[in-house]
Amino acid sequence: MIIEPRMRGFICLTAHPEGCAQNVKNQIEYVKSKGKIEGAKKVLVIGASTGFGLASRITSAFGCDAATIGVFFEKEPSEGKTATPGYYNSAAFEVEAEKAGLYAKSINGDAFSNEIKQQTIDLIKKDLGQVDLVIYSLASPVRLHPTTGVLHRSTLKPIGDKFTNKTVDFHTGNVTEISIEPATQEDIDNTVVVMGGEDWSMWMKAMKEAGVLANNAMTVAYSYIGPEVTEAVYRKGTIGRAKDHLEATAFEITKQLEDIGAKAYVSVNKALVTQASSAIPVVPLYMSLLFKIMKKDGSHEGCIEQMQRLYSARLYNGSEIPVDEKGRIRIDDWEMRQQYQDEIAELWKSISTETLIENGDLEEYRQGFLNLFGFGFDAIDYKADTNEMVLVPSLK
Ligand code: NAD
Ligand code: NA
Repeated sequence: MIIEPRMRGFICLTAHPEGCAQNVKNQIEYVKSKGKIEGAKKVLVIGASTGFGLASRITSAFGCDAATIGVFFEKEPSEGKTATPGYYNSAAFEVEAEKAGLYAKSINGDAFSNEIKQQTIDLIKKDLGQVDLVIYSLASPVRLHPTTGVLHRSTLKPIGDKFTNKTVDFHTGNVTEISIEPATQEDIDNTVVVMGGEDWSMWMKAMKEAGVLANNAMTVAYSYIGPEVTEAVYRKGTIGRAKDHLEATAFEITKQLEDIGAKAYVSVNKALVTQASSAIPVVPLYMSLLFKIMKKDGSHEGCIEQMQRLYSARLYNGSEIPVDEKGRIRIDDWEMRQQYQDEIAELWKSISTETLIENGDLEEYRQGFLNLFGFGFDAIDYKADTNEMVLVPSLK
């Protein structure tokens, strides 16, 4: 079939298998160009199919020569209907790993469930014995709690006061004002259940009990802080409470794993175009300003540059892992440079549909968004007939 982008608000309903494969290959090439990393050899990535999780899996495999198991929740293709991009990404990843002689298998299902945890543990036992790195990179709007059976929904709301700020429709470039009503206590609690650290902790507990965590293993989850302009809706909003909980959970997990010398870390990453982040109000407008400034300064990074730097300069730098005063790894250090943040704060005051054209890089944002779904790659002929039935080899 001919596959074109079909947009519905913040999402694209179609994905291009060859474009997704191109995206994966580009990331692999980048990691290879940066040289080998003396790092993990057997890696589990939870949330491995897109964004930071995919980039972590690629860095593990093609930077560290690691065997990888990837867990994700994606829709497979059916005749005449494309898969979700993460499914095609994972298919391409496995094909490239196989070519490079690297073990790679995937599990497609709800990582919050006991069943998928058990299935993953069984696969580790059977094929790898133990893992020495677990990346926890889930981003989900809902979580079906495995013990209570309650379906929790996360929200992106301010806490306390109504929040009003500028936002952009990145498809049209229209800058408007958005107001969001404050969260209820229930909203806060639900968001913490979905995006906080409970599930991460459950994974690590189950894995330790099953004996599939190597001595001195490491586990890393991802967080975000960001600028003042998004603070009310992000770091001090419902999602921020979940991130606070996630960050606190790292210390609990480290305690829980003390006897095997394993450690849990949270890495604070840069704001990047992913499916999860494009749904957050105000954030895309901030990002379009940030990208312009960072590109001009030569410090702009995507998911793969971020994860390659996380592994080589933080996790496996040959000495101690540098952390901030709260024990967090900071790979958002370039984003948070004072000069960039000052410049953004200044531009923000007068940002409008008109001034955004000159002061922001909306094109970079749009391109990044299209790329998520396998569109916008020069090497791909989008007019050509494409086989949508591309399957993940280990899931066939
Ligand atoms: P993403 O949407 O690109 O990836 C989410 C992954 O989770 C996918 O692999 C998806 O299949 C998987 N997933 C979702 N629900 C699942 C479920 N129930 N079971 C199994 N797999 C499931 O997200 P991302 O932007 O890469 O975010 C990953 C983490 O990084 C999140 O914790 C996010 O808050 C954090 N982070 C994101 C940004 C950003 O700007 N995007 C910045 C800093 C930190
Ligand atoms: Na991810």
